[in-house]
Amino acid sequence: MNQPFHITVIGQGYVGLPLSLSFAMNGAAVIGVDANEKIAADLKRGRTAQTEAFNGRTIREILREESERGTYRVTTDGASAVRESNVIVLTVGLPVDSSGAPDYSAFESACAVIGGNLRRGSLVLIRSTVVPGTTEAYCRPIFERLSGLRAGEGFYLAYVPERIAEGKAFEEFRTMPTLIGAADEASRRFAEAVIRVNSTAEIIHSPSIIAVETAKVLENLQRDANIAIVQEFARFAETAGIDTFEVIRLANSHPRVQLLSPGPGVGGYCIPNAFYYLNAKARVLGLELPLLSLARQQNQSMPEVIVDKTAALLSAVGKSLEGARVAVIGLAMKDQSPDDRLSPAVAICEAAIRRGAEVSAYDPNVASAYPFKAGTLKEACAGADALLVLNTIAPEFDPLSEADALRENVVVLDTRANVDAARLPKSALYWKI
Ligand SMILES: NC(=O)c1ccc[n+]([C@@H]2O[C@H](COP(=O)([O-])OP(=O)(O)OC[C@H]3O[C@@H](n4cnc5c(N)ncnc54)[C@H](O)[C@@H]3O)[C@@H](O)[C@H]2O)c1
Repeated sequence: MNQPFHITVIGQGYVGLPLSLSFAMNGAAVIGVDANEKIAADLKRGRTAQTEAFNGRTIREILREESERGTYRVTTDGASAVRESNVIVLTVGLPVDSSGAPDYSAFESACAVIGGNLRRGSLVLIRSTVVPGTTEAYCRPIFERLSGLRAGEGFYLAYVPERIAEGKAFEEFRTMPTLIGAADEASRRFAEAVIRVNSTAEIIHSPSIIAVETAKVLENLQRDANIAIVQEFARFAETAGIDTFEVIRLANSHPRVQLLSPGPGVGGYCIPNAFYYLNAKARVLGLELPLLSLARQQNQSMPEVIVDKTAALLSAVGKSLEGARVAVIGLAMKDQSPDDRLSPAVAICEAAIRRGAEVSAYDPNVASAYPFKAGTLKEACAGADALLVLNTIAPEFDPLSEADALRENVVVLDTRANVDAARLPKSALYWKI
């Protein structure tokens, strides 16, 4: 274990960039590697669309400070970075294709760069969320074959799942209990020393790497199923005339109950993909996962549920979704986030457009370009027949600040329970999820 650590972090996305900077802030020399030339070029210029912050400093400020100090630099040349480092951290994920199969192409090319350039005595830490069994059955053979070294002897290998939530990354690297799966004692000790660079939290060891990989997937599946329960309950409560959020507030007063909130659907990279990771393994084992599959379908169907509801409310005020102007607040997969990957808000906009609506969506946190994106809230709300509040842009953001721009008889769908319905015009028809 050669301290200070020279750490290469492969992948400079939502996990890899803040993780690199967190290591750098805590004394390691870090090389960030990203295969995407635009991401690397932006980072070199001190630019990122990420909105993480720590101790009053934005991730951009931290990026500039650590780059100037020389503790962080970014490159697309993974091979040289791996050769210069004694710790390699892999944060490239497994996207899921339209058939529900995890796509290994980016992950495999990252593994090949690691294996082909690994120095004797280095540690490889895999932090991506993976199909159970990936570290030992997929990565290890690639590393051993291409390096000519053996895990536990010539190099060290551990699986350390990333458990942070976007928006809280820097704080949670420090405070989140960390799982380490390592097949041998030397790898376990090396991995723990690296985790201690930026973490003061509990470290939980397991000699079973596949158990740690599966625990990470199960954590995400628990959230998917929990949300599916509250979504279904919300439909029941609506019909029964009971306030969903009040029931959840009351039930959550029990210390052993932790219900999440219903919303416009579940997005982002982590939760929607978890089912497909477990399912890939289940298929190999000849197993079915009917309950988890149903939960996934339930959450996946939410964008259509919201669009159906919009159509029904418009019909109740004598309008049709076809030809209606629909204002949308929020395009990210969750509140105050720049992340629009698998975002239900985007799916809602696209479904409404397919059904003939004219959609104008506002979300200043999201950098991606969409043909239906508005530059200002006023532009989104102008002449709208329907207002869909899909997430909270900022803590102080008022979704009704442009209510004057909405049409008579506007229908308002509040999927976050954060609209003050008393402030709506008398003619408005309000619905809360
Ligand atoms: N986003 C989260 O909050 C979060 C939380 C916990 C765990 N995870 C897991 O962490 C992993 C990474 O997630 P993310 O959100 O950071 O993904 P991301 O897409 O934001 O980042 C991955 C980065 O890797 C780069 N990349 C792809 N192939 C590469 C290669 N061969 N070499 C170098 N770079 C390459 C991509 O350009 C991208 O910038 C995933 O497995 C995810 O499930 C994410």
